[in-house]
Amino acid sequence: MSDSFQRQQRFVHQVIGHQLPNHNKLAPLKRQGHGIAPVNIALSKYWGKRDTILNLPMNGSVSISLPGLGTETTLTLTPISENSPHPIDSVQLNGESLSDDNPFCIRLTDFLELFRPENHTFTIHTHNTVPTAAGLASSASGYAALVLALNDLFQWQLPPQKLSLLARLGSGSASRSLYSGFAIWHKGEQPDGLDSYAEPIATQWPELCIGLVKVDVQQKPISSTTGMQNTVNTCDLYQAWPAQAEKNMQTILEAIEQKNFEQLGQTAEHNALSMHATMMATWPPIVYWQPESLAAMQTVWHLRKQGIAVYFTMDAGPNLKLLFLETQKPAIQQAFGETEVIQPFKS
Ligand code: DP6
Repeated sequence: MSDSFQRQQRFVHQVIGHQLPNHNKLAPLKRQGHGIAPVNIALSKYWGKRDTILNLPMNGSVSISLPGLGTETTLTLTPISENSPHPIDSVQLNGESLSDDNPFCIRLTDFLELFRPENHTFTIHTHNTVPTAAGLASSASGYAALVLALNDLFQWQLPPQKLSLLARLGSGSASRSLYSGFAIWHKGEQPDGLDSYAEPIATQWPELCIGLVKVDVQQKPISSTTGMQNTVNTCDLYQAWPAQAEKNMQTILEAIEQKNFEQLGQTAEHNALSMHATMMATWPPIVYWQPESLAAMQTVWHLRKQGIAVYFTMDAGPNLKLLFLETQKPAIQQAFGETEVIQPFKS
């Protein structure tokens, strides 16, 4: 057993530990567990880890969840029988079986290893209503749904903060996908990672709209995990990022509280472009943009010049997420055509 695995397992036991009176924390009470979670879009981004084993971020982040877009997961436990010499987990994604050397499958089963009861295999059925790895944060909804399915399977009845800690271990942005509406992921200070979780923000903002500009929904060339590690290791500009990200986060929290849309949009766009600047200044360079991404940005800037309040944010992919208020919906749909529009507090 590797040192990293042991550290992660200790973390898991610290999180679920005192919830149960008995000592056998990983005894399944059911055969099957089910979880469903939304994707979230970061308005101020998480980019860079201070601890890659416990998945602790360099900076805090704020997000908005998109209802109706996400992941639904069913986990089934099967006892290993004596006549099955090489028991392996099986993973189905959107109805298709994945081979065990598929990177998605490896990451998922490595995570599940932390929770495996003795002599059992997992069967995982997971359905995404967003394209996997398209920069629409499917790993966020994926690990949040998985942790909810584990919570159901083992009947831990953990509070959301603890589920957020476990989801974070699977994928940082998943910590925020336990909630609907706005969420804040506190970066935390403790080396044990127990104070780095997300919480919901109570504010409702019914007029707020998110437009999805899909440039390319294929698998991205470099994962966020690798991309952010390369950025931390090779990008000199990155040194400025954690302080800017924390400052942007505070400005966004204030904008949400005061429902100041201009402040929200400006800060979110500036934050996203600053993150992409650190990616580009990484070596080898990381450029998720495609020509159509830049064209869409130019349309946004052109609309703003005409007095239409629209801003964008982008994650580790070529797609844009537009931010605007309901009153601007006709103008946005005219400029972007088939853009899917989501009103997180109305849908
Ligand atoms: C650009 O959460 O996918 O979407 O923790 O390594 O799984 P891991 O990374 P991940 O990174 C998300 C990066 C981002 C910004 C964000 O969602 O805050």
